[in-house]
Amino acid sequence: MVLLKLQNISYQSENKSILKNISLKIDAGDYLSIVGPSGSGKSTFLKLCAHLLSPTEGKIIFKGKDFRQYSPIDLRRKIGYCAQTPCLFGDTVEDNLSFPYLIRKEKVNLTRVQTLCSDFNLDFALLKKDVQSLSGGEKQRIALLRTLLFLPEIFLLDEVTSALDVTNTLLVEKVISSLNQKGTTVLWVTHNLEQSRKYANKLLTIENGEIKAEEVLK
Ligand SMILES: Nc1ncnc2c1ncn2[C@@H]1O[C@H](COP(=O)(O)OP(=O)(O)OP(=O)(O)O)[C@@H](O)[C@H]1O
Ligand SMILES: [Mg+2]
Repeated sequence: MVLLKLQNISYQSENKSILKNISLKIDAGDYLSIVGPSGSGKSTFLKLCAHLLSPTEGKIIFKGKDFRQYSPIDLRRKIGYCAQTPCLFGDTVEDNLSFPYLIRKEKVNLTRVQTLCSDFNLDFALLKKDVQSLSGGEKQRIALLRTLLFLPEIFLLDEVTSALDVTNTLLVEKVISSLNQKGTTVLWVTHNLEQSRKYANKLLTIENGEIKAEEVLK
């Protein structure tokens, strides 16, 4: 089943053409790695898929319906996005992890938080810490964990292990791959070529705002 379909998508900003005529189908259950040189348009591509930017031309179809027919809240819940630069808010880690529960008017599921902290090799005591005092790698994992508290149908990940050491990178890869095996669709932008081929079934290369290559890996 086609989950996400991009039809002749272009994106222009300040008269600069950033993405040009991109057409692509993503099937439910796909694990798509996205690679390409710096500045080629990978993050812009992901932001369009997350509905954080709207294409200047073309349309995006999610589960047979145009993006514009969904409410923004509905799309936010179905499509999880983790930015290239982790964006934490409030004062403490706890503020960040309780937020997804707060907006759903639900009680924080501490068991879920604890399990994910352990999956990501994060000390549970970190919850009381000021977000300003976290290391880059801690910030990255907290931002990722926040996206995973409620499972979306698609995960859009933008270089989410760029600040991590090898051990923690492997842990994150394992968590994401296991979620993919349980059915979540994954789109992961990475500069790490080994990572791009490890678990993915498809590899997309973007160059100069265009699709340079589409490869089936498995
Ligand atoms: N809002 C914007 N306005 C103008 N130019 C932009 C905007 N956003 C991105 N760009 C430009 O578009 C191009 C693609 O940016 P993008 O962030 O998508 O690249 P990328 O492939 O993710 O790069 P990297 O690997 O360095 O993260 C760059 O030249 C960037 O400067
Ligand atoms: Mg980028």
